Order: sequence, then C-alpha cells, then structure tokens
Amino acid sequence: MRSSTASSLCGCSTAYYSSPLLAPKFKFKFPAKSQRPSLSTVEFRANPLTISSSLVNHRGKDGSCNSNRRRRGLLLTATLPFLLPLHEFVQDLGAKAESGMSDYLLMKEEVTKVVSKGKAASVLRLAFHDAGTFEMDDNSGGMNGSIVYELERPENAGLKKPLKILEKAKGDVNAIRPVSWADMIALGGAVAVSVCGGPNIPVPMGRLDSMEPDPEGKLPQETLDASGLKQCFQRKGFSAQELVALSGAHTLGTKGFGNPIVFDNSYYKILLEKPWQSSAGMSSMIGLPSDRALVEDDECLRWIKMYADNQNMFFEDFKNAYVKLVNSGARWRSL
Ligand code: HEM
Repeated sequence: MRSSTASSLCGCSTAYYSSPLLAPKFKFKFPAKSQRPSLSTVEFRANPLTISSSLVNHRGKDGSCNSNRRRRGLLLTATLPFLLPLHEFVQDLGAKAESGMSDYLLMKEEVTKVVSKGKAASVLRLAFHDAGTFEMDDNSGGMNGSIVYELERPENAGLKKPLKILEKAKGDVNAIRPVSWADMIALGGAVAVSVCGGPNIPVPMGRLDSMEPDPEGKLPQETLDASGLKQCFQRKGFSAQELVALSGAHTLGTKGFGNPIVFDNSYYKILLEKPWQSSAGMSSMIGLPSDRALVEDDECLRWIKMYADNQNMFFEDFKNAYVKLVNSGARWRSL
C-alpha cells in the first residue's frame, strides 16, 4: 500500500508558499527533491494589481490638468513598456483562474463519485489525521499528504480504506492533470461533509505533498481532558471554539451521536444529555472520552450550547474551522 500510494504522489513543486491567501508575501523555497504539479489553483493568492490613479487623473493644486502634464507624459513614456506586459500578465491570471476553476470542478466531480454517505465518516477522519499533525512552534506537519507514509501508526488504524477510495478519484484526475494527495484529501473531507447534508465548504487548491512522514505523536489522544485538548489544539493554532466546532465532525460515524451518515448538530444536543451516565443499554457507550470531556469545561460548554441551539452557526463555524484545518502547514505551489 505504502509504495503504491507513494508512487502515485505527484504533488511536489519547485517553489512553494507557506500560506494560501497571502502567498506572495512569504518567501520562496526551492526544495531540491521536488517536482512541480500542474494543477492550477482555484483561488488566486496574489495581491490584486492596481494601477495608481495618479497615472490616469492627476490634477495640480489649482485643479488644472496642465500643471503636471509634462511630468505625466514622461511617466507614461517610462512606464508604458512595463504596462503592456502587465496587461498581458493580468490576462494570463484570468486564464489561469478559469482553468483553475475547471480543474476544481473536475476534481470535485471525481471525488463526489467515490465518497458515498457510507464512506464519508472515514474520509473526513482521514483529512483530520493528515492535517492534525500541524504544530505552529516549528511549523511541522499539517495538510501535506504525508498520511500515505503514516498508515501503520496505531492512531491511523482504519485509514487505508478511505485512502484507497480517494486513490481511484486521484487516478482519474491525474490522467488529466496531476494533483497532490494533500488537495485530494482536503477536498475529500469537504465533500464528505456536504454529501451528508452539512455545509458546502470551498477548499482552496494548490497544496504540495511532503515526501516524508510527519513527526509522530502530534494528534490529540482520546484520553485527554478538556484542558489537554485545548492545549493540543492551541499548539495547532485553534481556539476552544474551533476545537468544539471541529469536534462536531463526530456527528458522523459510529460513536452514537445521531444518524451516522447525517451531518447535523445532534453531536451537541446529545453531549448535553450526557447519555453515557445512564446505565441503560448502549447509551453508556456513546461518545469518546474526549467528547465527554468537552461538556465538563465551562468555555467549551458555552459553545456546545450555542451549536446545539443553532445549527446554522455550527455549520458556519465548522466550515471556517475546516478550511483553516486543511490549510494548516500547507505549502502551496506558485502561480
Ligand atoms: C478532538 C480530538 C479528537 C480525538 C481525540 C479524536 C479521536 C477519534 C477516535 C478515537 C475515533 C474513533 C475511531 C474508530 O472508530 O476506530 C474518531 C472518529 C472520527 N473522528 Fe475524531 N477525534 C478528534 C477530532 C476530530 C476532528 C477534528 C475531526 C474532523 C474534523 C474528526 C473526525 C472523525 C470522524 C469523522 C470519525 C468517525 C470515523 C468513522 O466512523 O469511520 N475527529 N475520532
């Protein structure tokens, strides 16, 4: 498994950004062993190009257009050779945006074909286990496809299946445009949420794959109490509110929070009932220790109550936290 998935990795590039939306502000790095994927990004991460109004409508203090005419003429003569290529550059950006969008739609179509409701929970968990290794202090781990090298770790038991599911879609997309595992898994998790009735999550594309496993022991353990969970998520850049919102993913799957294939806010409603305190039948089995711990913490409890009362708020906060999760630690291909 490991060698076959690794051999289909294709997402490395000759340059990367360390942040998606502000990419040009970050330094370039050129890893020696990397290749460049050709999948276009859906979102442009360059700052918008603006042409100073002083070039088109500059008046003197007296309001006359004449006072600066000569200087403006000189300025235009000097900048014209640069403006023309700039115009072509802007057109090129537009073309890239269009092709990026069609790549995105193609990927989404292929992923939607393979992520059924019954498989959604495991695909969403896969996304968390790839991205959740991120640590802010040394900028290690994160959404980089390294999970393909980490499947033998005990915490990743059961994740070969969802990877296999996405591999089919990856093969079909790769036949047209190479795509990284990191993008496939990030999009897979978003599609998993929406096929089960959750929010539509627009996931930016253009991540590069790591060629090695992430450091071990970075995912939260299910035995952590609320303070341990908050600290663990804080090291990854997430607040207590984001911890609570993301934990709502456990509404999918077999931990007893409502319908296992419906993404809704029953996780929070059931947490408030504390069914595990009941001695009746299966109720005592509901939830992981880490889920139960959240209700015992005042700060988390406030968010649990809000999401139990307001599903739209949960959807909105989950969407934002998920995008942040799948952008954590990601390295981005250049435009
Ligand atoms: C807060 C810390 C978390 C801990 C300690 C934790 C731990 C676990 C554990 C132990 C399981 C059960 C695996 C099994 O059935 O064998 C599980 C399931 C799951 N986790 Fe988490 N998880 C956490 C956060 C998250 C987050 C943030 C997400 C996604 C955004 C997520 C998504 C899932 C999903 C969808 C399942 C169900 C998988 C299935 O039924 O196939 N988890 N989690």
